[in-house]
Amino acid sequence: MAQLWGGRFTKETDQLVYRFNASISFDRKFYRQDMEGSMAHVRMLAKQGILTEQERDKILEGIQGILEDVESGKLPITDQYEDIHSFVEANLIDRIGDAGKKLHTGRSRNDQVALDMRLYTRDEVLETDGLLKKLLNVLFGIMERNTETIMPGFTHLQKAQPITLAHHMGAYFEMFKRDRSRLKDIYERMNYCPLGAGALAGTTYPLDREYTAELLGFYGPMLNSMDAVSDRDYLIEYLSAMATIMMHLSRFCEEIIIWNSNEYRFVEIDDAYSTGSSIMPQKKNPDIAELVRGKTGRVYGALTSLLTTLKGIPLAYNKDMQEDKELVFDAIDTVKGCVALFTGMLDTIRFCKERMNDSARHGFTNATDAADYLVNHGVPFRDAHGIVGRLVLYCIEHQKALDDLSLEEYRAISPVFEGDIYEAISMETCVNRRLTVGAPGKEAMETVIENYRAYLQDQEG
Ligand code: ARG
Repeated sequence: MAQLWGGRFTKETDQLVYRFNASISFDRKFYRQDMEGSMAHVRMLAKQGILTEQERDKILEGIQGILEDVESGKLPITDQYEDIHSFVEANLIDRIGDAGKKLHTGRSRNDQVALDMRLYTRDEVLETDGLLKKLLNVLFGIMERNTETIMPGFTHLQKAQPITLAHHMGAYFEMFKRDRSRLKDIYERMNYCPLGAGALAGTTYPLDREYTAELLGFYGPMLNSMDAVSDRDYLIEYLSAMATIMMHLSRFCEEIIIWNSNEYRFVEIDDAYSTGSSIMPQKKNPDIAELVRGKTGRVYGALTSLLTTLKGIPLAYNKDMQEDKELVFDAIDTVKGCVALFTGMLDTIRFCKERMNDSARHGFTNATDAADYLVNHGVPFRDAHGIVGRLVLYCIEHQKALDDLSLEEYRAISPVFEGDIYEAISMETCVNRRLTVGAPGKEAMETVIENYRAYLQDQEG
């Protein structure tokens, strides 16, 4: 047991208590951030004359050595330390002797851990964003290639009106684009530095907090030391953004599962992203989509759990806060894994375009357009709605699509119909006449695609 705080104690910690309290098994994850934070702190202490330049250099060299040895695997981070902070300090003192004991001057583990977690998640916010960008690129490619791929659009999972595959994918493009913008907002708000807040009330040393904030790439120091050590809002926001990303992925997965079903056959998931059954040789299951849908629950759970943990915590630091780590780490790993796998699955999926077209043709998705045809020939919409309703009933009874009826059949129900009805209700006409902003018509879609192209290029820089 290696502890930083034995001085005022007369007894050893109970083994179970020690283990219950320790965080090394998970906070080892931010060993690099912990050491980067310490190095910035030490540079600042020397600049302020609190450490000598020799002490600074010795400590920096020591920490650098520990970092390299950890990364190369030479120095394993073992459970004999209470947390990652103790691990670094103990190893530093081992390596460089007394100078190492000055590392923690003007600092507490409370501002240290607040810093480490912020540095770690700051990088992860950017990584999550990068993965979403890749997903958007795949979606963009599908959109570009499918402005003329007609499929049924659904409401209540009932065929409603014809749309295109580009249009359907575009809806998800919008969702993931919003997710990225949420991450950006979070980054902007979280990027302030808690280091120098001490245990809760700052310190009596003349620290230069602006300097450490700048060294670590923050916009500036956090302005209230109590808040600095106890704020976890950014984790709530990040978990909430991740829960939303998962919700979007899960909806998309649900559609893919439906589309991949034997009944729909709108898509075929690539063999590399499907699994078989141990008993039924014919099966090819959409397990990856189901797992992503399933894992959504974990991320929601993390958000609810952290909100609940935080709601009763008085200012400032309390040990409850240690519970933020495993939840957030698990959510981050889950989300990153899901976005990456989903992107691969989508990139290799095969769209069965004929099936989609056929399905749109045979689901009366052009019924609204048939009614609009009558309206354009002077029939009031409510009457037109009734006439087409009767036509649909007739079609169902005779197992036909609207397009398959003869002109006589049309005119038997309403004499307003002329030979141009076929053109008016063709799938292509139905889609391409929908040209308002955001609609599936080819021209409207192409304007949006240009907008997305500029968005994706703009984000290069
Ligand atoms: N492991 C602790 C955490 O994750 C580090 C801070 C410890 N501070 C303290 N006063 N015990 O929150």
